[in-house]
Amino acid sequence: MGPRHRGDDVKSVGRAMANNNDLAVLEGALLAEIGGAGDLRALEDVRIAALGKKGRVSELMAKLGSLPADQRKAFGQSVNGLKQRVSDALESRKAELERQALSSRLATERADVTLPVRLGPLQDGRVHPVSQVWDEVAEIFGDMGFAVAEGPDIETDDLNFTKLNIPPEHPARQDHDTFYFHPKADGTRMLLRTHTSPVQIRTMMSQKPPIRIIAPGRVYRLDSDATHTPMFHQIEALVIDEETHLGHLKWCIEEFCKAFFEVDEVRMRFRASHFPFTEPSMEVDIDAAAIGKPGQWLEILGSGMVHPNVIRNCGLDPDKYQGFAFGMGLDRITMLKYGIPDLRDMFAADLRWLKHFGFLPLDVPTLAGGLSP
Ligand code: DAH
Repeated sequence: MGPRHRGDDVKSVGRAMANNNDLAVLEGALLAEIGGAGDLRALEDVRIAALGKKGRVSELMAKLGSLPADQRKAFGQSVNGLKQRVSDALESRKAELERQALSSRLATERADVTLPVRLGPLQDGRVHPVSQVWDEVAEIFGDMGFAVAEGPDIETDDLNFTKLNIPPEHPARQDHDTFYFHPKADGTRMLLRTHTSPVQIRTMMSQKPPIRIIAPGRVYRLDSDATHTPMFHQIEALVIDEETHLGHLKWCIEEFCKAFFEVDEVRMRFRASHFPFTEPSMEVDIDAAAIGKPGQWLEILGSGMVHPNVIRNCGLDPDKYQGFAFGMGLDRITMLKYGIPDLRDMFAADLRWLKHFGFLPLDVPTLAGGLSP
């Protein structure tokens, strides 16, 4: 018999006789039902049947008005007392049932925290090695106090060349195999930037020294073979203030190489070179021992002290400000660090390749946690 059904009997008792004896019987019945409710739902049914709008206790209260005046007060107090005791009993049974429900959940639901994380869909996606290295480099330079700057892929001839001390007709323009857009009505031509160096100009024209930035990004050259793709990635660095010198440049690159290749020592070689936007200019080679292949020099970047003309072109006084810059092939250092043999495979969008060389999304590079997984 459910509580509602049983309640009907008691209700009729309440209706017929309103004396204390009957109230005691009703109370006993209700308390028994409360004690017998096996779960929170059953208990709620008991509560509604007793204290709900049409519940047995509520109906008794409604009867009050039909009683002779001399009985009302005493009866009202008795019913109120009953109501209070039933409410208390409901409350404590409820707390007890909740405790029981919680303990049985705790007993059955177990989490084995020693199991490996189940990644679900994250398991299938991979972060491209270039994106991973991009983050690694930003992490290392971020730690040295460099901010990340950006510029557009579609650049003006002026920023890509002229302001970098490569005027029209300068032979260096030929080396870059530039993708040009059709000339505009005013004769100027937009182009796909051939290097990240225009971000140096954008930064110097929009910020006041001291400047310390890196600028990773895509660059484009009309070139395609085993070691060249028409689109590739570079990372530019620029430091401008009043006293930065070549020693800072060397230190900075050396610290970067140690952190990036995760080794204690890196042997480096600075070779005199020429770039129109630096003076002096140097190319930097590292001993391939850093990647476990001693006995070979690997070229990793071009660098130098920013040419006074470049500083002047950006509206700064080269007698007051100086600094260094370098540009590094991001794809190249990615291939070196992670043993990727062919540059062209990097951009072939082959999922098998990505699965093999890619990184899990949760393998976020941090200096504290170790850069590479
Ligand atoms: N922009 C040069 C290139 O594309 C690389 C480079 C060399 C960048 C020397 C620099 C630098 O900032 O100082 O080959």
